[in-house]
Amino acid sequence: MQLKELRQSFAVTYDYSVYFADGVFTPDNPLLRDVLSRAGECPHRLMIVLDSGVAEHHPRLGDQIQAYCEHHADAIALSGEPLIVKGGEVCKLAPLEVQQFYDKVAEEAICRHSFVLVIGGGAVLDAMGFAAATAHRGVKLIRMPSTVLAQNDAGVGVKNAINHGQRKNFVGTFAPPYAVINDVQLLSTLDPRDQRAGISEAVKVALVKDAEFFQYLYRSRHALGQFQPIAMQHMIQRCAELHLAHIANNGDPFEQGSARPLDFGHWAAHKLEELTHAAVRHGEAVAIGVMLDSLYSWRLGQLSDNDIAAIYATLTDMGFAVYHYEMAAMDVAGALEEFRAHLGGELCITLLDDIGVGREYATIDTDLMQACVDDLARLHAGEAQSVFASSAQLELSLAV
Ligand SMILES: NC(=O)c1ccc[n+]([C@@H]2O[C@H](COP(=O)([O-])OP(=O)(O)OC[C@H]3O[C@@H](n4cnc5c(N)ncnc54)[C@H](O)[C@@H]3O)[C@@H](O)[C@H]2O)c1
Ligand SMILES: [Zn+2]
Repeated sequence: MQLKELRQSFAVTYDYSVYFADGVFTPDNPLLRDVLSRAGECPHRLMIVLDSGVAEHHPRLGDQIQAYCEHHADAIALSGEPLIVKGGEVCKLAPLEVQQFYDKVAEEAICRHSFVLVIGGGAVLDAMGFAAATAHRGVKLIRMPSTVLAQNDAGVGVKNAINHGQRKNFVGTFAPPYAVINDVQLLSTLDPRDQRAGISEAVKVALVKDAEFFQYLYRSRHALGQFQPIAMQHMIQRCAELHLAHIANNGDPFEQGSARPLDFGHWAAHKLEELTHAAVRHGEAVAIGVMLDSLYSWRLGQLSDNDIAAIYATLTDMGFAVYHYEMAAMDVAGALEEFRAHLGGELCITLLDDIGVGREYATIDTDLMQACVDDLARLHAGEAQSVFASSAQLELSLAV
């Protein structure tokens, strides 16, 4: 017998900016100071967390941050030395990194009115974003993504996570940042693998959302493969813009439903990351996953022969491999089931109805998907013509 029902309903509006900048810690650049000042009465306490890869390749950064904060002492009160956490997937595997964050927050008396500025790749942003969202039930987080993938995808959204055992992103929260600042200067020290890895997220979002952007990526694939700065900056900004627009406008920013268009190609990518114990970068795995689900869409008859050839040329001319030998060990049905369990509810896989048009599918034919995995192996073995077709037109488009 129900005695009473009290209904509770309220809405919370989130509002944050993603800035693109060149030289955030140049003393006369007011951007960071202005971002903090907008939060009201100054100065604001600011704790710094650095990805060890950033700290190693930018050895003067700590001093530059200190000099910047002294220059803007009316707005910023720097709190202690930066916390340096291990860069890369390892920081999502080790709760120790999260523990160190909590300890530092306690030591430095960081409260819910203070700020934490995290400078790092997607993995550090994910782990420290989770720590920031849970310390004091949420301290104000400013992200400074330091890889291509973090600037165009991982660092601009609302999710964070750490892994649990081998399960990627098993523990995490939805927690929008206070602000995001993408500084182009951070990218100059990236290893070529990390320069390239993030480009696959742009191909992904273009394929599900924006045919014109895909055309741009196709035309610029050689320039992007060589990391030409103008092409890279356009790619990063448009990719970030499409991710932000999706989060704001699709009606499900905290992913309560099952649809995940931004996870196109990711069910296989996550599995491959697990199978290789993260030896394959997230972005590298996404390139393989995007090619796989594009092949499946093509085999369903949703993409033309030229479309699939253009996707293949885009990824490979950018320098991506479209296969990894660990794919041979992938249990397609098992990987799809794990992805379904991660989403909760029903299986929901985004496929392409056309270039720039993603659609959710509730069933996947595992034999057909396995055939697409075999296609990837043949493509890797240099047998593109046997996978696609042998028409002269295709040969032409593959040769462009
Ligand atoms: N939260 C999200 O919405 C979201 C979205 C996509 C990806 N991700 C996550 O992001 C992670 C991948 O991130 P990533 O591709 O940025 O790689 P990463 O964070 O693993 O970093 C790769 C390497 O680059 C180093 N590094 C970082 N910045 C550097 C710099 N400026 N110069 C030199 N070295 C630098 C790091 O120390 C690390 O060794 C994965 O864990 C993935 O699950 C999260
Ligand atoms: Zn991704």
